[in-house]
Amino acid sequence: MRKINRETVQRILDAVDIVDVVSDFVTLRRRGANYIGLCPFHNERTPSFSVSKAKGICKCFSCGKGGSAINFLMELESMSYQEALRYLAKKYNIEVEEHEMTDAERIAETERESMLAVNKMAMDHFAYNLVDTQDGRNIGLAYFRERGISDEMIKRFHLGYALEDSTDLYNAATRKGYSLDYLLKTGLCSRSDSGRVYDRFRGRVIYPVLSVSGKVVAFGGRTLRKDKSMAKYVNSPESLIYSKRRELYGLYHSRQAIVKADKCILVEGYMDVISMHQAGVENVVASSGTSLTAEQVRLIHRFTNNITVIYDADAAGVKASLRSIDMLLLEGMNIKVLSLPPGEDPDSFAQTHSSSEVEEYIKQNEIDFIRFKVNTLLRDAGNDPLRRAQVINDIVKSISLVADPVARNVYITTCSHLLGVDDKVVSLQVNKLGQEHAMKLRREEQISGGMEQLPAEGGTASQQTDGSTQPVDGTGQATADAGPSQEIQQIAGTHALSAEGRKARFLLPFEKEVIRLVLKYGMVAFAQWVDENENVWPLTVYEYINGEMSNDGIKFETVLYARALAEVSNIFNTTWQPDLTRYREQIAAEREEGRRQGIEQIRTGATNMAMIESLERELEERLDREDAEKETEFAVNYVERILASSPDDDMRRLTADLVSDRYVLSKVHTKYSKVLTELDRLTEVVPRAIHELKAAIIDCEINLVKEQMKEACKTPETMRAQIPALMTRISELNAIKQQFAHILGERIIIPR
Ligand code: UTP
Ligand code: MN
Repeated sequence: MRKINRETVQRILDAVDIVDVVSDFVTLRRRGANYIGLCPFHNERTPSFSVSKAKGICKCFSCGKGGSAINFLMELESMSYQEALRYLAKKYNIEVEEHEMTDAERIAETERESMLAVNKMAMDHFAYNLVDTQDGRNIGLAYFRERGISDEMIKRFHLGYALEDSTDLYNAATRKGYSLDYLLKTGLCSRSDSGRVYDRFRGRVIYPVLSVSGKVVAFGGRTLRKDKSMAKYVNSPESLIYSKRRELYGLYHSRQAIVKADKCILVEGYMDVISMHQAGVENVVASSGTSLTAEQVRLIHRFTNNITVIYDADAAGVKASLRSIDMLLLEGMNIKVLSLPPGEDPDSFAQTHSSSEVEEYIKQNEIDFIRFKVNTLLRDAGNDPLRRAQVINDIVKSISLVADPVARNVYITTCSHLLGVDDKVVSLQVNKLGQEHAMKLRREEQISGGMEQLPAEGGTASQQTDGSTQPVDGTGQATADAGPSQEIQQIAGTHALSAEGRKARFLLPFEKEVIRLVLKYGMVAFAQWVDENENVWPLTVYEYINGEMSNDGIKFETVLYARALAEVSNIFNTTWQPDLTRYREQIAAEREEGRRQGIEQIRTGATNMAMIESLERELEERLDREDAEKETEFAVNYVERILASSPDDDMRRLTADLVSDRYVLSKVHTKYSKVLTELDRLTEVVPRAIHELKAAIIDCEINLVKEQMKEACKTPETMRAQIPALMTRISELNAIKQQFAHILGERIIIPR
């Protein structure tokens, strides 16, 4: 997609009103300074979804989802960053200016659009055939009726019929002016050696495959003949717009229900999805007969962590389920499996049961994937000791991939029991594999410039881990893209890190608090400083923190935080002053209007001169107060509003995580409440955060010197040579540490 240029992005972000955006999806009611409604990301009866107009941010207190308007759209409507921008531009009637595209980009773009257009036409044509032609009704529609599919489902899934006539679609398309080129590129038509063009789909019912954003990217055509020599399904070929491994049948229609139920049910076929929908179970997608790919899992992961795989009771179905397991675990999914009664598939089961029966059956019969794996593998292995040992290894591998440490421990306990092995043995093995895995991830993270600069261990782990961490299709994508989980890093334990790695980890919480204050209050003038000439200047939180850090040569160890600070510097040095000036002009105008109204009220209400004077004094005071409040509010929201909509995923996530937490939104600062908010206590909070960071850095240094001393004590020579200097260093550091409290006390922080 073409990139929107910076100026346009800014215009869009300026226009956005979060309340307005969210209101298109959620009914909001005003509560205090915020708006509140039922969370669209999960099912709930009492509203916990809060929207702050001033902050431009929304957040669910219960499930934690939310963020800027951009985040909201990206998550709820599964848009990309660019799509969300375009959506907002359209909503606010902003003309979108785009980057000049290269010729190659332009061709690819028009090609993609043309192919999608041809597919859309084909979908409509097949749907027309189904109900408006003799053959369509007698053969196609009759077939769907016989299989119990309602007209509503036929409409919802755009089902269709391809006539036997081998040029029906080709002729219709040409008549409408579509070029042969795109009919061939989408695979709707083919050309024989003799140059004759014919349709791919003939005499088949058609299932259009929609992408997650609702574009027709492919078709599946099912034969209606019993003839075994004919392929049951003919599908669109891979193309510029269709990659089988990246699509899930039904996702477009099911995504809302998946989010609501916080669960995705995975079935095999087109008909399974449709029948389940018809039965009222709508959180269903199909992998369309192939084993699940990492890309598909990641698609699902955008909507939920929970997958229930329904598999056929036959052996092939079971094997297919097992193959996907490790990849799902690696992706941080909670996986359950469910087998249906013998002889049933989701389609037949849904056709003969009500939605509550289906749901109840699932609830009663789904079991977690690892337990399922233990049971099936052990059953296969029988009493063969060698094969049983293999099973144990296999299971341990799976457990080591579980991201959640609590769940991992539960698995260790239950599986040891099932396997008849001491749980200490299992636990040891799991941790060992977990460490290797963590190290591999860390190395990958370093390569891709991850947030913590943790050094690689001296080559102890093999680059290539065993097959279990590879995706089923063996592309190596799953591990590289999965991203390390903090939990997996924790398995590795601190001892696996070098001194610098430990330092980064040790300082993390202190750095986090400092950067949080910068992101949240960066532009707030929280104090004043007086220069040599006794001029008084306002001092912003950013200036104070940045000054303190550069004075002492402190840099954030955590790369993402350093990047965030640089962003805020940039904001402070470029847009902040001009924007503030403009905002002040705006509030000055508002003040004039407020004064005019106030004076008019006083004139009509007051009875004598003295009263008028005192009322006017009160009016001016109130206007002053309001101006100050407005300016503070503007400053509080400034950095956050910019970074919460940053094109940089990490920056957006960091801002959302640190700034828009529950505490911020729930603790409303109103003129009626006497509660001291964090904002009121910045003169205390900000210096303390910096102080604690500095103290932590010194502690780190002291520990480092202590380690050097330990090392030096190993031989008499090194002891003699090094210990005195190290001792001096330690006492220096201790002295600095003690001085901190004093220095801090002496710093002149004049509250505003
Ligand atoms: P099934 O054979 O289970 O078909 O294949 P189905 O969808 O349940 O069809 P009905 O119920 O007989 O009408 C499951 C899925 O595997 C893919 C299709 O996506 C199908 O929905 N498949 C199957 C193919 O792509 N090609 C084939 O030849 C068979
Ligand atoms: Mn079927």
